[in-house]
Amino acid sequence: MEVSKSLVVLGFILGLSASASDKLFIAVDTNDLNHHNLRAMDIRGEKGSKVVVALNERAALNISDHMHHEHKKCGGYFAFNSESEAKDFLNQKIQPNLRSLFVDYGINQEEVVENAINQVEAVEIEQNIRHLSSYKNRFYKSSTGVESAKWIQSKWASLLKRRSDAKVELYEHSGWPQPSVIATIKGKSDEVIVVGGHLDSIAGWFGGNHVHAPGADDNASGISTITEVIRVLANNNYVPQKTLKFMGYAAEEVGLRGSNEIARKFKADGVNVIGALQLDMTNFNGSSKDIYLISDNTNKEQNEFLATLIDSYLQIPYTYDRCGYACSDHASWHKAGFKASFPFEAAKNDMNGKIHTSKDIIEQSGGNADHAAKFAKLALAYVIELDS
Ligand code: BES
Ligand code: ZN
Repeated sequence: MEVSKSLVVLGFILGLSASASDKLFIAVDTNDLNHHNLRAMDIRGEKGSKVVVALNERAALNISDHMHHEHKKCGGYFAFNSESEAKDFLNQKIQPNLRSLFVDYGINQEEVVENAINQVEAVEIEQNIRHLSSYKNRFYKSSTGVESAKWIQSKWASLLKRRSDAKVELYEHSGWPQPSVIATIKGKSDEVIVVGGHLDSIAGWFGGNHVHAPGADDNASGISTITEVIRVLANNNYVPQKTLKFMGYAAEEVGLRGSNEIARKFKADGVNVIGALQLDMTNFNGSSKDIYLISDNTNKEQNEFLATLIDSYLQIPYTYDRCGYACSDHASWHKAGFKASFPFEAAKNDMNGKIHTSKDIIEQSGGNADHAAKFAKLALAYVIELDS
């Protein structure tokens, strides 16, 4: 393993030796750790270029934050509560959901899609971004982190209140207080379409229960985009063939923890997810193109389907880009063997520089949700065409 070239002191500065309490196990690419002192780390296993490291939670957040600020790169990692889970994860090859090998990506719902996307209202999205970013933070361990998740549940439930085929549930996690939120509109077939984004926020070196982390772009924008999709579908009394699941994931900012638990559970239960769409950061119009389809940790055919949907229904400029690591919850679905896609707001290189700070407010995105509205339209086209 090429670990010896790394810096000597950083590990000590960051306090990477794990104490007994609050221990966390992360699976991470050694390339992402090479700036840190790997020799000072408590390495529990390795496979290929990946290692399992035991560390305290502070240190995990540190790695992520250090990457952002010093190397203009993000530190993607998966975090687990136990060493054995982390090792299982490392050893697992991606086993695709065999039942979803052949998905019909045909386009034949022009009228329904056109009608739906014409009803997308940027002001609706804007209002929800403003509400969600008004909490002090949506940190996975804080009281406002729990409160904001419950607000999302009640918002989605109120949009779906006239539907006997729909329910909105909190998905509780054992390792931390913040729940994920799952809205289900049940169809007749066993196939499931997932549209999700993370509901938590973070700021600063360690996050924390009291820091100001409005997370307007990261990721009140994605949650509010999903909320608009639910609003439009409900307003049109859209009755799906397949089962639609809209998800707000807890604890993404601390290692994709909420989505990872959910995707692994769905895999273990044999749930037939035929596609997952990730909406994380939709409102910062930072680049010349409107949509950047992330090509790593995603499914090529489903990405091409999204490209066709943009050409057919949005007619706006798009291209492909890479995150370079497991940067958001799409990677949890991808690793669990499901087809995932992640359309992003800007080129990675001109990303919103204010995320993970107290300045991630809607004014940074022009004070409106015009950019996010494009993603709501794309998500509606995705759901309706994939459902047919
Ligand atoms: N929304 C970001 C991911 C992101 C940032 C994607 C910039 C594309 C461009 C996400 O919330 C995040 O911060 N992810 C972490 C990784 C995670 C495993 C802790 C990151 O990028 O450091
Ligand atoms: Zn983030």
